[in-house]
Amino acid sequence: MSANLATVSYIGATILFILSLGGLSNQESARRGNLFGMIGMTIAVVATVFGPRVTGAGLPWIIGAMAIGGTVGLVAARKVQMTQMPELVALMHSLVGLAAALVGFASYIDTSSPMVGAEKTIHEVEIYVGILIGVVTFSGSLIAFGKLAGKIGGKPLLLPGRHWLNLAGLLIVIWFGREFLNAHTVADGMTPLIVLTVISLLFGVHMVMAIGGADMPVVVSMLNSYSGWAAAATGFMLSNDLLIVVGALVGSSGAILSYIMCRAMNRNFVSVIAGGFGSGAPAPKGAKDAASAEPAGEVSPINAAETAELLRESKNVIIVPGYGMAVAQAQHTVFEITKTLREKGVNVRFGIHPVAGRMPGHMNVLLAEAKVPYDIVMEMDEINEDFPDTDVAMVIGANDIVNPSAAEDPTSPIAGMPVLEVWKAKTTVVMKRSMASGYAGVDNPLFYKENNRMLFGDAKKMLDEVLIALHG
Ligand code: TAP
Repeated sequence: MSANLATVSYIGATILFILSLGGLSNQESARRGNLFGMIGMTIAVVATVFGPRVTGAGLPWIIGAMAIGGTVGLVAARKVQMTQMPELVALMHSLVGLAAALVGFASYIDTSSPMVGAEKTIHEVEIYVGILIGVVTFSGSLIAFGKLAGKIGGKPLLLPGRHWLNLAGLLIVIWFGREFLNAHTVADGMTPLIVLTVISLLFGVHMVMAIGGADMPVVVSMLNSYSGWAAAATGFMLSNDLLIVVGALVGSSGAILSYIMCRAMNRNFVSVIAGGFGSGAPAPKGAKDAASAEPAGEVSPINAAETAELLRESKNVIIVPGYGMAVAQAQHTVFEITKTLREKGVNVRFGIHPVAGRMPGHMNVLLAEAKVPYDIVMEMDEINEDFPDTDVAMVIGANDIVNPSAAEDPTSPIAGMPVLEVWKAKTTVVMKRSMASGYAGVDNPLFYKENNRMLFGDAKKMLDEVLIALHG
């Protein structure tokens, strides 16, 4: 493929990526957005592999690597459960970071096209920054994977003087950066690069370990942004314009998403990055560990038939889905119940919290899959005022996002986070299997409120019973 054709293909792919992002901003156009992204990526890969920069001898290696990588990706994507998607995404971000770091080392070792003067300095700065971002993304994403998969606890690790540790790390990185730029041989430059790699590894681990459970969504989108910048850095090192543009698109959209998440969670962006959020203020003396707290009162159980009766007699119902609905794969039954009730004249709508589930838009994806119409799926801000006029708020496998202590208890780890104020409805029905806490590990006073009923059991099984009772 000629250089001109490759450039034209890159421009076409860039336009498709921009259209893809535009499409993904809206549920109705999201499928089309995905399609644009897939076509854009195919064009980008073909134009790169068969472009002017790949010589004949390198081609079999690249095709072989693509076949192995493609097979692993295909098998992983087919095997992964919807609820494991966030872990898979975190793992993939770590690979982007690793690739950026490896490209950094490779382009430093490769002296086949020697550079001098300013060009050499710029190239070395690209390498140094690229390895820094790549390694932080790599280790941070691995820890995020561990936390999302439940292999590492959600409690924040708060080292004494952690901000000073970060500052010391930064100063060492700057110092060795100077050494790196002053190095005369590749061997001399290797020591600063290895020190940089070790510090960046530790920084990535420390940054994500210091984040509390409830703030993980911000970290997930932040690492998404880092992976974009890591790809952009790779683009600079390889002088590949497409990688620079696509990396910047991912980097900036991830940063905007992190900002939106922070606003939704009422968190300060810088404090979340500096770590320690989600740990909460010190608990009063004698207070129990929130995660292991004994139930703080009596709960009133309800059965499926009684729930159906309550729903049938309501005028306004708001359904609040959470992670448990995803685990139980209950979205199709939820929609059957919605249709049945709407046919009986009950106004049923959905209230979606921005961090419900385990990934941005998790609930919207599930409800769209079940074909729930978009016009009855409301954002938290759109629906929160309507709870006082609601007869039944039905909470399906959600916990942290409906926890009143976020609004009422300043010592709670989730204090200040806006939540769906379901307890203001006439009656709430919470559907879950036990009294266990949610992702943030915080006890939920909603369960003990007078107007709350607990429908214990797997969400899918209980909803199937509710549906049968509704038809009965
Ligand atoms: P959670 O607070 O995690 O609560 C989910 C509840 O579902 C659990 O308490 C669990 O209780 C119940 N559950 C699990 N399996 C179930 C099943 N088969 N049937 C019925 N119930 C089941 O979820 P949420 O309210 O959606 O809040 C999300 C949390 O995850 C927030 O803390 C958020 O910060 C965090 N997070 C979000 C994201 C993104 S981007 N959305 C990313 C990482 C972390 P039982 O065990 O008693 O059934």
